[in-house]
Amino acid sequence: MKIIVTGGVGFIGSHVVDIYIKEGHEVLVVDNLSSGRRENLNKAAKLEEIDIRDYDALKRVFEKFRPDIINHHAAQISVVYSMQNPKTDIDININGTLNLLELAGKFRVKKFIFASTGGALYGEPEYLPADEKHSILPLAPYGVDKEAAEHYLRIYSGVYNFNFIVLRYANVYGPRQDPFGEAGVVAIFTERMLENKECFIYGTGEQKRDFVFVYDVAKANLLALKYTPKKNTLPVFNIGTGETSSINTVFKTLAQLSSYSKEPVYRPPRKGEVFEISLNYEKAKKYLGWEPEYDLETGLKITVDWFKQRRRA
Ligand SMILES: NC(=O)c1ccc[n+]([C@@H]2O[C@H](COP(=O)([O-])OP(=O)(O)OC[C@H]3O[C@@H](n4cnc5c(N)ncnc54)[C@H](O)[C@@H]3O)[C@@H](O)[C@H]2O)c1
Repeated sequence: MKIIVTGGVGFIGSHVVDIYIKEGHEVLVVDNLSSGRRENLNKAAKLEEIDIRDYDALKRVFEKFRPDIINHHAAQISVVYSMQNPKTDIDININGTLNLLELAGKFRVKKFIFASTGGALYGEPEYLPADEKHSILPLAPYGVDKEAAEHYLRIYSGVYNFNFIVLRYANVYGPRQDPFGEAGVVAIFTERMLENKECFIYGTGEQKRDFVFVYDVAKANLLALKYTPKKNTLPVFNIGTGETSSINTVFKTLAQLSSYSKEPVYRPPRKGEVFEISLNYEKAKKYLGWEPEYDLETGLKITVDWFKQRRRA
């Protein structure tokens, strides 16, 4: 199949491209390289360096490539940035998504797969692990965008008659995550530990997250390709482990793996971030046949090894 992966040279998107190529699909990446890296581009994939806010440029790509599937990963991903720049955030995450939805309709795309968030959608959860029926109460504009985009997707898929799937990720970590952004504590700690720099923890460090390994997330995107819609089932799936780990625990594990001996530096908590979240993935297990395969320790080891190797390269 011919698949456009937006954000396909970013952290998660590039792993999705890899797994799609491995399955024999033809992939075109749409990315403006704002946080993605050219070196992440799979050799068998092509890259169109454009911004999803640019409707005309996107239209030219659709005309030329004629995709069967859209897999939409391009986004402004920082919760902190979304609090400070909500209008730009809306422009990329909502208006950019709308451009793709409109073109998906016009060019008769068969399926639209959307990378949403479980970590930033349910707010401070009423129960754990949160399932897809949990109330949606985002604490930051980033989560509001993702919720809005999910609604637009559902509406457009009905109007234009294409299938859709929403994957709501927990905290994704693994090789290729950007250690210089504000999101992605594992990548930030790992890079700083390997440089023997101080690591900052915002709050007590006892805030807990559901960490899911990027290879598992890529697998969910592969299963999403194969998924056929079921009657009376909204195709929205949590992709997490159902477990929580504190930032302090992640810090300690990474410190061991990186032979780092400094203590963390604690700073005041950041606004817009939840205290504890984990995602129930029973629905993904039942309908997609998806389950996480990597436990935190294994995933962190692979990640640290990758960062070490990149420094040597
Ligand atoms: N990392 C996580 O823990 C996590 C959790 C939940 C959801 N997500 C979602 O997964 C997706 C990928 O996130 P990631 O962690 O890989 O981040 P990332 O920053 O590595 O990837 C985003 C990619 O989108 C590209 N991009 C950004 N703005 C663009 C624009 N206007 N036009 C074209 N390309 C643009 C960037 O260059 C980058 O390659 C995002 O939609 C994000 O919201 C990530």
